[in-house]
Amino acid sequence: MSEPLPIAVLVSGTGTNLQALLDTVHGREAEIVAVASSTAEAPALARAESRGVPCAVFARAHYPDREARDRALGEWLDERAARLVVLAGYMELLTPQFLARFPGAVINVHPSLLPAFPGLGAIEQALAYGVKVFGVTVHFVDEGVDSGPVILQRALELPHAREREEVLRALRPLEHGLLTEAVRLYARGALRADPANPRRTIIDVPAQRGGDG
Ligand code: GRF
Repeated sequence: MSEPLPIAVLVSGTGTNLQALLDTVHGREAEIVAVASSTAEAPALARAESRGVPCAVFARAHYPDREARDRALGEWLDERAARLVVLAGYMELLTPQFLARFPGAVINVHPSLLPAFPGLGAIEQALAYGVKVFGVTVHFVDEGVDSGPVILQRALELPHAREREEVLRALRPLEHGLLTEAVRLYARGALRADPANPRRTIIDVPAQRGGDG
């Protein structure tokens, strides 16, 4: 098997997606070489620390502007040699300069079937709209809000859902499954843009071995 891909994970909160990555891909297809948080309060930090993963906080308030924060963040991730940046509940927008540093190598998990309900409060937006099918999207990050090319999506019918908590609880396993799968595919080099439509991400499936010999 090839060397694990060095990845960074950016967090702001609880860190259940980070935990899923630590539990399933870390030390296998990928090596989490850095966890950066937008806040020192994020419980996600303790999850990384307990596994010995280097952590740092890049709080917006500690820098004159977002550009300066993202420069410091980008430099730290470069020092750690991260080749993929995974946003796992990261609640800040990244600057175009940061994205240019990691071209095609920043991915995000979002709790809706994009392009429905981008941005903050996706589950609340979906409940307010009255949808009966919820879902999760993992996508490449571009300069817009949750607008980059889709990598993986999964839908979940919850026709009677009323509360954010019950939707969140139901979507969590889908998020964890899809995000870890996307990281595995990326690490394997299995993701590429469709030349006919760069919005479309093609997933290369390994050739099946013949069954007759
Ligand atoms: C998830 O719902 C994710 O989709 C969204 O932020 C939440 C993060 O949860 N982008 P956690 O911190 O990974 O538990």
